[in-house]
Amino acid sequence: MTKLCINIDHVATLREARAANEPDPVHTVSVCELAGASGIVCHLREDRRHINDRDLRLLREVTKTKLDLEMAATEEMKTIAREVLPELVTLVPERRLELTTEGGLDLTRSHLHLRDYIPALQEKEIEVSLFIDPVKTQIELARDLGVEYIEIHTGEYANAIREKDVEREWQRIAEAARYATSLGLKVNAGHGLNYLNVQRILEIKEIGEMSIGHSILSRAIFVGLDRAVRDMLDIFRLHA
Ligand code: PXP
Repeated sequence: MTKLCINIDHVATLREARAANEPDPVHTVSVCELAGASGIVCHLREDRRHINDRDLRLLREVTKTKLDLEMAATEEMKTIAREVLPELVTLVPERRLELTTEGGLDLTRSHLHLRDYIPALQEKEIEVSLFIDPVKTQIELARDLGVEYIEIHTGEYANAIREKDVEREWQRIAEAARYATSLGLKVNAGHGLNYLNVQRILEIKEIGEMSIGHSILSRAIFVGLDRAVRDMLDIFRLHA
């Protein structure tokens, strides 16, 4: 079955809305894991707008499944990752004024930098994933960089409204997942996935893990986090 990893950044966003100490993102870990999640994802941003250094340290301590640290490929983040030792680092582009990650990495521009950057993570036995758009040249560059994973950006698919646009974006993701797998990469996917649009993505068997945050935490407000995770996993099971 496709694995579900939960991005818990929004719990910290809610805490920061009051600059208070609740809700604590650390408390979400056992709830997600006991509900069946396969991993916990958090994004330590340069501006620390939600997850902060204390959260990350504690998330590392309490996560029993798999911790996926999303981060920009900066020197500061490299040092932190090498200290905290998440199982996986997902490298993402980061712009200060964006509301959320707005697109995949452009490896044609960043591959020289990443060629020197990635080995320092891997030598600490951290696996590395590159968040990229479903584009053949990006996948080939990811393979050349020697990473274990790519995460396919599903934002365009999630934003598509007209049926033919949804279909086109789905095809791009399916072909990208197939191609990446044929090159020996493991494939994750995420961004903008919800209880409805995830269903077609689950048909793409090459995708091993989905990283989902916003829709699950939105539902959690009404039904609780345990229920929200279990409801998503019920959908995963239907498509297993
Ligand atoms: N994957 C990556 C690389 C992301 O940056 C995000 C958003 O932080 C997600 C997945 C999860 O997206 P969403 O919150 O829309 O489910």
